[in-house]
Amino acid sequence: MMRSTGVRLANCGISAVRTAGRPSVAARSFSSELDFLGSAPAKSMKDPSSRALWEKILLEVPKIAGASEIPKVGPKYEGLLKFMDGLEDSLKAGQSAVEKPPVTVAVTGAAGAIGYATLFRIASGQMLGPDQPVILNLIELPGAMNALKGVVMELQDCAFPLLRGINATDNLEQGFADVKYALLVGAKPRGPGMERGDLLKDNGAIFTKQGAAINKTAHRDIKVLVVGNPANTNCLIAATAAKDLSPTQFTAMMRLDQDRAIAQLAAKANAAVKDIDRVIIWGNHSANQYPDIHHARIGGKRALDLVKDDAWMKKDFIPNVQKRGAAIIAARGASSAASAASAAIHCMRDWALGTDQWISMALPSNGEYGVEKGIYFSYPCISRFGTLAPVLNLPVDPYSAEMMEKSRKELFEERDAVAALLK
Ligand SMILES: NC(=O)c1ccc[n+]([C@@H]2O[C@H](COP(=O)([O-])OP(=O)(O)OC[C@H]3O[C@@H](n4cnc5c(N)ncnc54)[C@H](O)[C@@H]3O)[C@@H](O)[C@H]2O)c1
Repeated sequence: MMRSTGVRLANCGISAVRTAGRPSVAARSFSSELDFLGSAPAKSMKDPSSRALWEKILLEVPKIAGASEIPKVGPKYEGLLKFMDGLEDSLKAGQSAVEKPPVTVAVTGAAGAIGYATLFRIASGQMLGPDQPVILNLIELPGAMNALKGVVMELQDCAFPLLRGINATDNLEQGFADVKYALLVGAKPRGPGMERGDLLKDNGAIFTKQGAAINKTAHRDIKVLVVGNPANTNCLIAATAAKDLSPTQFTAMMRLDQDRAIAQLAAKANAAVKDIDRVIIWGNHSANQYPDIHHARIGGKRALDLVKDDAWMKKDFIPNVQKRGAAIIAARGASSAASAASAAIHCMRDWALGTDQWISMALPSNGEYGVEKGIYFSYPCISRFGTLAPVLNLPVDPYSAEMMEKSRKELFEERDAVAALLK
């Protein structure tokens, strides 16, 4: 049993770890093979038959040693075991010595439907990683502070090991103090008979105040994700008010649209979501967004070559994604909340930690794809080392250009409607 376990490790696990560089996906899938092996839990990882040992090797070695320093193992795995034996104590000491300091995350509208659904995922490590302690600053309107008390109690009751503090406040400057990651979710909903222009102005006032407070008290490297609608223009307003920060520190959430588009394509192609990439949302988070699958791939192959259904793309896929929010309200009697929270977590995670996928993010336009300066327009982006860059020079056919133009035009109209707030 012992030897066959070792052979499995040498043949499968190490190569998986080496190619992955980081342990996550490869190591996890190998861990599930360990369930199959069914070895009993061990008291110590020094017990070579231990299932815990193998998990520890796969999960920890690349993190602490770097893939290149993993010793060569042949069919016998004793060399690796010896290496791990020597490493165990220093690993433990090293882990406690290098624990990351907590970072402060602010969520506005924290007692609302989306805010509430984000908090537990942030506190459990799903946004900034399982080794990043967090302090949560929860920001609400004065009238919602009592409800927020209940949310704080629930967070406490979860006993999340990564959650190192909770501050609930209706004071913006306190709420954004030293904050490195902010989710601006709270916003005024569109009331009955309310014009879009009125909604823009009412929300504009909220986001001007929030941008100014962020400018005054937040960490200088803050990343701000605007979720509250109309998200792109609220983002423009907040970024304009944060005069000492870079506009690139702000983005508006397009990720729910991207995740919806991926799910629709997966269903049509009978494919797994994980095999789909390069789905793009261009433009505004509104019914004039352009969900684009011309560059999408399924298992590395061009999605449109597999789907071969132009009519479906234009008559079903695009309107379904554009109007998905309304369809959810019609069915649920309330707007999307858990899926919006999930998208916010995905979006900030990929911005903060990087990803090898293209992600759609609203960036301050700078002439890319003919969108002149002055708005936050969603582009396919690369995210590395905390920085976003749009994917450039993608071919744009006339149909796509027309769809993108609708969003561009709408965003400039929104900008003009709040011009007084952009000084
Ligand atoms: N970008 C997207 O993809 C996306 C998706 C879904 C919803 N949204 C938007 O997210 C926003 C929140 O949706 P929800 O379902 O959570 O709404 P909700 O009404 O359940 O909650 C909003 C919360 O925000 C609070 N709030 C309002 N103004 C505030 C302010 N100035 N400061 C602090 N808190 C404030 C309210 O008290 C409330 O608790 C809405 O604007 C909605 O349209 C965006």
